[in-house]
Amino acid sequence: MPQQVTRLILVFAIFIGIFYTVRSYFVPESWGEFGHYRGNAIREIAALETKYADIKTCIECHKENAGLLAEGEHASIKCQTCHGPGYKHNKYYELQGKSNTPDSASMSTEITDTSVSTENTDTSIQKHKSTTPEEFRLRTPDDRKFCLNCHELNSGRPEKAIKQIDVTDHYNMKKKCIKCHPPHAPNS
Ligand code: HEC
Ligand code: HEC
Ligand code: HEC
Ligand code: HEC
Repeated sequence: MPQQVTRLILVFAIFIGIFYTVRSYFVPESWGEFGHYRGNAIREIAALETKYADIKTCIECHKENAGLLAEGEHASIKCQTCHGPGYKHNKYYELQGKSNTPDSASMSTEITDTSVSTENTDTSIQKHKSTTPEEFRLRTPDDRKFCLNCHELNSGRPEKAIKQIDVTDHYNMKKKCIKCHPPHAPNS
């Protein structure tokens, strides 16, 4: 065999040796267990905490809000889009045995003035006082920023898909949106 070939074979052997050594460090454990991916990925995903609840369960306990939502302009939005993941909240109240409607009186939220008004009558809505323990409480985002996530004028957002407002020119610039637009039925 010519001398060059022997050297080439040697060089190749060294490279292949390095490749397999490095590979053994970098290929994760459980690779290829079930297929061309980490077998542990499946176990990790299966072990993730459940965060979202089935929307049907929200409706069972909150008939009133669900009813309002279904009839209004926000009907296409799901509870948990605004209130955040509700799995823990559900489980908590299911275990409490409070399987039925928290009626609006006990919820202590009063919306006495539901007419859309352009006057600054800020006393019309009282803040909801929740009795749910912190850990199981859902957010009730009543600030302007929250609504503007979806409704702020944005040239990249088709007006046909979602109505937008110019915040600098939409009625009272300091007033909370929900003073005029009840969140579950914003045009009522
Ligand atoms: C567009 C966003 C949005 C959607 C969708 C939505 N909510 Fe709300 N919800 C709010 C906001 C904002 C408040 C806080 C109102 C306040 O502070 O007066 C609220 C308050 C509440 C409250 C507490 C006070 C009350 O009015 O009784 C409950 C309970 C509630 N929502 C349940 C639901 C349920 C159940 C659904 C789904 C059927 C739902 N919400 C869908 C925005 C939303
Ligand atoms: C087993 C009954 C039950 C289920 C299921 C349930 N809730 Fe509730 N929820 C309650 C009760 C009772 C309260 C009243 C707490 C209070 O204000 O005293 C409440 C309060 C709330 C509040 C006010 C804030 C808070 O956490 O106290 C919101 C918002 C809410 N629920 C939304 C939801 C959504 C969204 C779902 C579905 C993911 C849901 N609920 C499922 C019973 C339930
Ligand atoms: C997740 C996105 C989202 C959030 C958050 C949201 N909305 Fe909406 N809103 C919509 C969609 C979608 C519609 C139905 C399409 C439309 O009419 O623009 C709608 C409709 C409306 C309408 C009726 C417009 C019309 O005349 O047809 C009003 C008013 C409104 N929303 C106000 C609010 C207020 C106030 C808040 C905050 C409490 C809020 N929205 C939060 C998505 C959102
Ligand atoms: C002082 C009362 C008031 C406040 C506060 C208010 N709105 Fe309105 N909004 C109205 C009235 C009245 C209309 C219907 C007439 C119109 O389109 O101008 C309306 C219309 C809308 C529409 C539909 C626009 C369209 O093109 O048809 C959206 C979306 C909306 N508001 C979102 C919001 C959001 C988000 C906030 C908070 C940043 C907010 N509004 C604050 C009174 C108010």
